[in-house]
Amino acid sequence: MKNQNFDISVGELVADDYRRADVLGGYEIDYSCGGTVTLEEACKERGLNPAEIWVELLKVSEFEPYIDYKSFGPTKLIQHVVDVHHEYVRNSVIPLRAYLEKLLRTEGDKHPELPEVRELFFQLCDHLFKHMEKEEMILFPYLKAMYGAMDRGYPLSMPYFSHVDIPICELEDNHRTQMDSFDKIRRLSRNFSTHNHSSRTFKVAYAMLDEFGQNLRLHIHLENNIIFPEARKAFEEFALRPH
Ligand SMILES: [Fe+2]
Ligand SMILES: [Fe+2]
Repeated sequence: MKNQNFDISVGELVADDYRRADVLGGYEIDYSCGGTVTLEEACKERGLNPAEIWVELLKVSEFEPYIDYKSFGPTKLIQHVVDVHHEYVRNSVIPLRAYLEKLLRTEGDKHPELPEVRELFFQLCDHLFKHMEKEEMILFPYLKAMYGAMDRGYPLSMPYFSHVDIPICELEDNHRTQMDSFDKIRRLSRNFSTHNHSSRTFKVAYAMLDEFGQNLRLHIHLENNIIFPEARKAFEEFALRPH
């Protein structure tokens, strides 16, 4: 990280140290779904000087706790995503939906954006539940079995979906849809700003939505930029073994 390297992908920058997410996010550089773009390309697109961004990336706060997600190893990281991020979605959806319903009832006449915010969030939740089920029932069990077989030298048959790229490409597509709809919610709510709203329901609902979006971005980043690339690489190696 000490030597300037503008050819590094923004996904890799964040995969190496998640605290860099705040710097990139501040310039609206998408590291979770647009993770393969290089720092140079991302800066060029936005008229930014990559050398200045590099200096900011070097200065990421030393006070924030640093979690080295790459050091978890693939099996542990998959379990972490399920236990922490899937669980978070399952636990927060019911209260958040209730808050959005209440907000629409009490403030809907003054805020024409609220029906669309509610509708987009409800659709996103339905999409997320089906998506997480695909990860938990199809891809993740196979990846865990594959890593276990590779570590212990056990035999394992090839997956029924023939190549991990097939479910992974579909899941990456889903991630783009999810981030697009959350970005729409963020724009409609003017970045969850509540300074013109005195209502407590508004403040709580928007703070919860904001947290939901941050959690989703980290969740998608861990899958797109660490779990999936590692799975593709490991599968290439695994597929070469006699079965
Ligand atoms: Fe997930
Ligand atoms: Fe996912």
